[in-house]
Amino acid sequence: MHGSGDRWRRYYRQTAERPPRETLLAALAAWDATGRPPAQALDLGCGSGRDTVELLRRGWRVLALDSESAAIEALKHQPEVAGSPRLFCRVARIEALDPLPGAALINASFSLFLLGPEPFARTWATIRAALPPGGLFCGQLLGPRDDWSRDAGLTLHDTAAVDALLAGYRVVERREEQSDTTTPKGDRKHWHLHHLVLERAPDPAPAQPGAPAA
Ligand SMILES: C[S@@+](CC[C@H](N)C(=O)[O-])C[C@H]1O[C@@H](n2cnc3c(N)ncnc32)[C@H](O)[C@@H]1O
Repeated sequence: MHGSGDRWRRYYRQTAERPPRETLLAALAAWDATGRPPAQALDLGCGSGRDTVELLRRGWRVLALDSESAAIEALKHQPEVAGSPRLFCRVARIEALDPLPGAALINASFSLFLLGPEPFARTWATIRAALPPGGLFCGQLLGPRDDWSRDAGLTLHDTAAVDALLAGYRVVERREEQSDTTTPKGDRKHWHLHHLVLERAPDPAPAQPGAPAA
């Protein structure tokens, strides 16, 4: 799965026309429910752009980022995005961007768990720092019962570890899934996923001088 080159190219061809991820749709529904207009989004590990296409369709400005140039090429070939003045693309590693550019919505579908534990921890902090209060994060994390848990270099989260990541967020949607499917690359596998839609909470107010300790 986390090879590069031909396997990713095949993945991009197979997923290019797929619909947007449900976590992105849930985040967009939460955003729209507040009456705020479309704003700036980041799509981290955008692949061939199934989520970027939806964001553009709904009027968002999108910075789409992927470490594979083949992903950005595939995204640029999507008929809906060709020449869009609201799309900016970068070939870069997510963890290399510190700080991340500010964004009202940060989407990371099936990408963050591909980072090792240390880059993941840094990136989780940079994501929160890039979101304003009320900004949204959506994406997936990988659980320890997933078939890929045996592969080195991924970051896994059990339920308690996900709990710990939620500090500073309000949970809009959280769903743990275990299922058996065939991946877009044709492999049978058992999935253990955490689907997350989170809203960044305001920072706690600083303690007032002279206020009694809690
Ligand atoms: C499983 S695909 C998901 C693509 C897309 N978000 C989707 O939901 O279909 C993961 C993507 O993350 C990219 N990726 C993996 N590690 C990355 C990293 N450290 N920085 C940026 N992109 C990365 C891969 O190149 C790949 O395009």
